Amino acid sequence: MTRPFRERWEVIRGLGSGGQGEVLLMRDSRAIDPRPKLAIRVKDTLEVVLRSPDESSREAAFDDFIVCLRDIERSNAVENHYALKVLHQPTQARDSQNAAERLRREIDAMRRIEHSNLLKIVDADEGYLWYVSKYHQGGNLHDHLGDYAADLPSALTAFRGLVEGVARLHDQGIIHRDIKPKNIFLASDRRLVLGDFGLVYFSDDQHTRISNTLSNAGTRDFMPGWANGRRIEQLTPAFDVFSLGKVLWTMVSGRSFLNFWYYYTDEFNVETIHFVAEHMDLANELFSKCIVEHEADCLPNATELLAAVDNTLSRMKTGGGFGDGVARFCRVCGIGEYRLMADHDAQTALNFGISLSADFRLYMCRHCGHVDLFHVPDGERLNRWKNESRDPISKRKSSPN
Ligand SMILES: Nc1ncnc2c1ncn2[C@@H]1O[C@H](COP(=O)(O)OP(=O)(O)O)[C@@H](O)[C@H]1O
Ligand SMILES: [Mg+2]
Repeated sequence: MTRPFRERWEVIRGLGSGGQGEVLLMRDSRAIDPRPKLAIRVKDTLEVVLRSPDESSREAAFDDFIVCLRDIERSNAVENHYALKVLHQPTQARDSQNAAERLRREIDAMRRIEHSNLLKIVDADEGYLWYVSKYHQGGNLHDHLGDYAADLPSALTAFRGLVEGVARLHDQGIIHRDIKPKNIFLASDRRLVLGDFGLVYFSDDQHTRISNTLSNAGTRDFMPGWANGRRIEQLTPAFDVFSLGKVLWTMVSGRSFLNFWYYYTDEFNVETIHFVAEHMDLANELFSKCIVEHEADCLPNATELLAAVDNTLSRMKTGGGFGDGVARFCRVCGIGEYRLMADHDAQTALNFGISLSADFRLYMCRHCGHVDLFHVPDGERLNRWKNESRDPISKRKSSPN
C-alpha cells in the first residue's frame, strides 16, 4: 500500500520537471493547516467577531483570528517549505520500472548518510514513489556560477563542504555518479548541498545486483572519459572526484561547459580567462589532480581531494609564496609547516648534487619529515610550487590531440 503524499504535504508550486518525475515546492500540513483549512478558519472566526451578540465570544474569536493570521504568515515562511520529488504517472514515464528503482536507491542513499552538504530526506512513501527533502531556496549551483568566478578563495570555501559530504559517501562504499551544478543546491547560508542521488551506486552486494540493471550513466559533460563502456562494478570513487573537479572549474571559470579534461587549453584555462585574478595557478594545480584523461592520474576518492583542497586553502591563507616568517605547509602531507634545516650549506648541496653557484635552502616538514630543497635566487622569492619542470599541467599540454 502506498501512502499518497497529499495526506501530509500541500503543493505550493512546481520547481522542475525531468524525464522521470517532477519536483514540487511543498508545505507541511502537520505543522500548519493547509491553505483551504486556514481559509475556513479565517471565515469562521471573522463571522463570530462580526456577528456574535456575546462580547466574550467576539473577543475569543478575535484572538483566534490573530492566530490564523500568524499561521498564514508562518505558512509563507521558507523554513516551512520542502521539496517533493514524485514520479510521473507510469503512462508518462519513459521507463517507469527503472524510474521507481532509481527513486528507491536515491532514498536509500540519503537515509544512510547525514551530512550538512548532502540533501536531507524528511519523508518518503513506503513504496518509495515519492520523497520530501529540505527545500533550498537558493536554487541550484548552475544558476549561480557567476557568484564564484575568478574568486578561488570563495569557490574553494564553498566547494570544501561539498567534497567533505562526498567523502562520507565514499567512506560508505557509495558513488554518486551524477555530480554536476544542476544537482547541487544552494542553502540559505550559501552551503552547497548535493542532491539527485538517482544514479547512485552502492558497492555492497545487496545493491550491486540492482545497479547492474541500471548501468546508464549521468550527464556526459561531468563524467570521466575512462568510465565510458566500463561495467558499473568497475567504477571507483575517482568517478566522483573527476566530476567534483569539473564542478570547481565551472565555479572558478564562471562558465558551464568544459570540453572533456581540456582545462589547460587557452579556451578553458582559468589563468587565461581570468588573467588578472589571483590564485588561478593554484586552481589549475587542483584541476590537474582530478580533471584528467586517465584514472591513474586522478585522486582516488573525495577524502584525498579534501586533503588537496585544504592544502590549497592553507597555501592561499599564507600568501602562496615562500616569504620569510610566513607559515608554509608541506607539499606532501599538507599538514606540517616547513622548518629551515640548512641555508647555503655547501656540504648539503654536494650531497644533493646541486651546483654551488645556486642559492638554496633546505627545509623539513615538522609533521611528516619530508625534506625539500627550495631554490632562492638572490633577493628574489622563488615559488617552488610553480617550478615549470615539475608542473603537472605543462606535462599534459599535448594530450588533447
Ligand atoms: N531540495 C531542493 N531544494 C531546492 N530545489 C530543488 C530541490 N530538489 C530539487 N530541486 C530543483 O529541481 C531540479 C530537479 O531536481 P533533481 O533532484 O535534480 O531531479 P531530476 O532527476 O529531474 O534531475 C533541481 O535542479 C533543482 O532546481
Ligand atoms: Mg537532476
